[in-house]
Amino acid sequence: MNGCVRVVRATPGLVWRAFSGQQAIGAVTAFLRPDDRWFVNFDAGEDASYQPLLLAVAANTGSDLYATVDETDEQALAMFARLGFTMNRRESNVLIPTDPDITGLTNIDEPDDMVIISAVDADEDELRLLDDALRQDVPGTAGWTWNPGDFHEETFDSQFDPATYLIAVERTSGQYVGLVRVWSMPGRPRLGLIAVRRSYRRRGIASTLLARAFRVVYERGETDVTAEVDATNSPSVSLLTRLGARRFGGTIELVMRSPGS
Ligand SMILES: CC(C)(COP(=O)(O)OP(=O)(O)OC[C@H]1O[C@@H](n2cnc3c(N)ncnc32)[C@H](O)[C@@H]1OP(=O)(O)O)[C@@H](O)C(=O)NCCC(=O)NCCS
Repeated sequence: MNGCVRVVRATPGLVWRAFSGQQAIGAVTAFLRPDDRWFVNFDAGEDASYQPLLLAVAANTGSDLYATVDETDEQALAMFARLGFTMNRRESNVLIPTDPDITGLTNIDEPDDMVIISAVDADEDELRLLDDALRQDVPGTAGWTWNPGDFHEETFDSQFDPATYLIAVERTSGQYVGLVRVWSMPGRPRLGLIAVRRSYRRRGIASTLLARAFRVVYERGETDVTAEVDATNSPSVSLLTRLGARRFGGTIELVMRSPGS
């Protein structure tokens, strides 16, 4: 019977509140991601609340704690440093043009042994397993394993666009080998992921997926998409640089190691 039981973690995470007497002086929310990493997010509160809140989260989770901060937010960076966080990695925020005359992504024909399908027509379990596999090579998401319910919710929410969430499938084996997803965001569309399984790389599959998805976006009048890329991810940085990506900001991921780790 266990095969029928599905456990879905409830969002939006756990909240701890700090009080001075009867007065609430601060709060922190901690989210457990599918890669088993805890991310904390403080409400604006009194300085005196941060350390006790953090100690309570660390004691309850028994884990390293992570936080993401805008690279220009010196106040937040100084606060996290005082609390014992150090830099784990950096991401650049980039704008990528969608005009094929600028990107050079003019070829939308898939390689002969591949077919490109929309996520709306995909087998959801296969797609989730592809996503899990691809994330192992994306800096910052190694160890990610989706819960089927969470994956469904994240994939098919209001930002889902069947015309720009595409999967490359090998014709003979039916294996899902790579995907592109451009989320339909308020403001500007966002490239959420472009990734290809290791043994299928450097065959132009990512370029074809991007060419297809960007063509749709460009024809709708959107001349750029946003994306985030890890500073150390050289294949991705060189791919995006070649397309004409321009950096406009960045974030810093911080970590506070658990005493036990
Ligand atoms: C980045 C990635 C998607 C590229 O996929 P791909 O199918 O191999 O890409 P393509 O074959 O279309 O390559 C297009 C161009 O990107 C650049 N590029 C791709 N991989 C590269 C590498 N390892 N080193 C340097 N440049 C690279 C090259 O300019 C390449 O053109 P070329 O082969 O004519 O030299 C793939 O390496 C990947 O899945 N990486 C892990 C997932 C990831 O980090 N995704 C990005 C998250 S933002």
